[in-house]
Amino acid sequence: MSIYPIILSQTTFTHKDNLTYPFEERGLQFGDGIYEVVRIYNGQYDLFEEHLNRLFRSAEAIQLELPFTKEQLAQLLMELLKKNDMTADGIIYLQATRGSAPRNHVFPKEASTNVYAYVRDLPRNETNQANGVCTITQPDERWRNCYIKSLNLLPNVLAKQAATEKGCYEAILHLDGEVTECASSNVYMIKSGKIYTYPATNRILKGCVRIRVHNYADEIGVPFIEESFSTEAIASADELFLSSTTSEILPITKVDDTVIANGRPGPITRQLQKRFEQQIEQYRSCTTEYTK
Ligand code: PDD
Repeated sequence: MSIYPIILSQTTFTHKDNLTYPFEERGLQFGDGIYEVVRIYNGQYDLFEEHLNRLFRSAEAIQLELPFTKEQLAQLLMELLKKNDMTADGIIYLQATRGSAPRNHVFPKEASTNVYAYVRDLPRNETNQANGVCTITQPDERWRNCYIKSLNLLPNVLAKQAATEKGCYEAILHLDGEVTECASSNVYMIKSGKIYTYPATNRILKGCVRIRVHNYADEIGVPFIEESFSTEAIASADELFLSSTTSEILPITKVDDTVIANGRPGPITRQLQKRFEQQIEQYRSCTTEYTK
């Protein structure tokens, strides 16, 4: 199954074919909204609390009122998996916008938040995990509030498209030569046994998997240093990797024309990937059986 039939619409459940919006909708017309993507392994949410926390942080940052508490949303999203009998690997996509109203930049008084969430299958990409991926560099042309998971993704879309056209997986973004993150993931450089990554300021999205990478680094005794590195430094990096909900922890073996080290995933990245695999194994060992 690609998209599962039952979706969450506002605070109730409906068949996906029933969801329609007027074309004067703030998400459609202004990108006036926020979203989250949560990974599902074996029918179970991964990093669930981290994603819910970030959703509520994003909502607060754009003064968007959500029609539920965090606890109520957690319940609804659990229910969503159950109603779809979802036991595979996948994702949920959830978005919340400032509602449907006649087009006017000012917040509408009469509109209420539009929310929907759906579930789709997404198998793990084991080939990429094993071999790593190539990337390009692109200027970071986004606004200054990238910590908000906003629907405004045009610079990200253009950067990712440029990468795809060069046969690459991701675009590494930089502000005047300082690497911030990728178009849809966080990025890390390993040099002399230490992991470097841009600090979690308003210039990047603080990834939920980034939190995990930090924890794993602590566990295996590798310093995790929140300090930016330059595009020039990449040429002499020992290892490079990226992280996101859908990419997991993914080695980068090439950036533009520069091959990283020997062109194969490095040992510290491998250790982090192995810890990630162990986490997934825990989901595999407890089956989800929904009783309807
Ligand atoms: N992307 N940075 C950006 C710009 C992102 O869009 C994402 C996630 C991340 C990593 O965050 P996390 O580890 O919480 O997935 C970093 C999601 C998956 C997306 O837009 O599809």
